[in-house]
Amino acid sequence: MTRANDELSNAAVAAEAPVASGESLAEGSAPIAATTRTGARAQAPVRVGMLGCGVVGTGILRLLRDNAGTIEGRLGAPIEVVGIAVRDPSRLRGDIVPAGIVTTDALALAIREDVDVVVEVMGGLEPAGTYVRAAIAAGKHVVTANKALLAEEGDALLESAEARGVDLYFEAAVAGGIPVIRVLREGLASDRVIALRGIVNGTSNYVLSRMQHEGLDFEVVLRAAQEAGYAEADPFLDVSGGDAAHKLAILATLAYGARVHPSQIAKEGIDVVGAVDMRYARRFGFVIKPLAVARPSTWAGEEALDLRVHPALVKESSVLASIGGALNAVFIEGAMLGPCLMSGPGAGALPTAMSVVSDIVDVGRNMLVDAHARVPTRAFRGESLVPMRVRPAAEHRCRWYLRFGVSDQAGVLSRIAGVLGGFDVSIEQMVQEGGRGGSDDRATLVMLTHEAREGDVREALSEIARLAYCHEPPRALRVEEDA
Ligand SMILES: NC(=O)c1ccc[n+]([C@@H]2O[C@H](COP(=O)([O-])OP(=O)(O)OC[C@H]3O[C@@H](n4cnc5c(N)ncnc54)[C@H](OP(=O)(O)O)[C@@H]3O)[C@@H](O)[C@H]2O)c1
Repeated sequence: MTRANDELSNAAVAAEAPVASGESLAEGSAPIAATTRTGARAQAPVRVGMLGCGVVGTGILRLLRDNAGTIEGRLGAPIEVVGIAVRDPSRLRGDIVPAGIVTTDALALAIREDVDVVVEVMGGLEPAGTYVRAAIAAGKHVVTANKALLAEEGDALLESAEARGVDLYFEAAVAGGIPVIRVLREGLASDRVIALRGIVNGTSNYVLSRMQHEGLDFEVVLRAAQEAGYAEADPFLDVSGGDAAHKLAILATLAYGARVHPSQIAKEGIDVVGAVDMRYARRFGFVIKPLAVARPSTWAGEEALDLRVHPALVKESSVLASIGGALNAVFIEGAMLGPCLMSGPGAGALPTAMSVVSDIVDVGRNMLVDAHARVPTRAFRGESLVPMRVRPAAEHRCRWYLRFGVSDQAGVLSRIAGVLGGFDVSIEQMVQEGGRGGSDDRATLVMLTHEAREGDVREALSEIARLAYCHEPPRALRVEEDA
């Protein structure tokens, strides 16, 4: 496919773009259409009803316009957006959105006769869930970018899609533009995943990266990130690890054939990290990254999954240490494949739209040869998915970075080391700063421990926090080896 061909197609699309205004969609009103390179229509179009037209929705429309020829060459049919549902049709969305196909009745669009594929890009659990359920019940294929909906209700939705014989695709829901769902579902169909480690929340990575490079504290960077549009006005879901847990639940299901709910995932937000921790981590040869980890493990003699979302120290030379800014990455270790890193934009209008439209192409290909469910959406056949046990967070063993703000008194260090030792936590390296000779009597003790059980570390720290010469709650961060 040449660029010139795409430009010809774009011209055809522009010529077809409707000029009528009005917020309701009349059946048969002009769609955004991708005509063939020759202008002829070899195949009936794949007709899309789009629920939502914000950042991702407008990106989808742009991509369908700009890549029309390429897409049709790959799919074998044009894609037409025949209806778009929004909350407020009077909102300006640029000239990419034809007013004639906009409606406020999302439910009616989701089940409309002339829609083949419902694309849900409105977000949130409700009413998006109701519309997706209605679309599936009406026999529509669904493509969604909604990780919250999938992580919370994915099992039920995917099962009803399988029962109804329709496709439900969700590449954009995890790591935006990185095609990791396809890799887990198809590329690794013959392998076992030994470990999956990712940076799957761009906001958290952006904030920690700036803290690392500029020595700024969490609150300062978060405010700047909000002003620059890298963080939401309400950033809680991102910085608390909630969003990453949603994505990890989806990834773990595909990687391990396990039914995983986000509530089973131990999570800790990045707000526990201070600029000072970045500095000390570097002295030990580490950087701090917002990680999501899924690994097979054992617990009480049985198979279990180790699932965690938290900031962690990774070696400066490790692959994930180099993933900076708002980038996402997924690092998969296959039993046969070995290590494999994918990185790229985890959000943004066009990268996310690219994943959504690639899903529409896939669904369209299935439609053209009547091959729905050829590839199981959750990578494993429904009957082989198991409710695998998740190992409790307290059982996790790793090296720990510990920081204590204490009075600079004789005996403090030996008392802290004694408490740690009592819980089987032994010190590998230590740095002390401040105190003697400084302007006050306070000192900072920073330690790297040998491998220790999380439950033991937590108990030791709560005992140390009660000591009179401990001025602030001790900080503890995990070290993730092999990242
Ligand atoms: N933004 C990204 O980079 C990104 C990346 C990966 C995944 N996602 C996911 O993609 C989805 C969409 O994200 P977005 O950033 O495009 O959101 P957005 O900019 O807020 O757009 C949401 C759209 O949905 C419409 N909408 C919301 N509630 C509606 C309702 N009840 N009825 C009809 N329309 C409704 C809104 O209408 P109005 O325009 O009239 O308000 C708007 O057009 C979310 O699930 C998000 O998690 C986004």
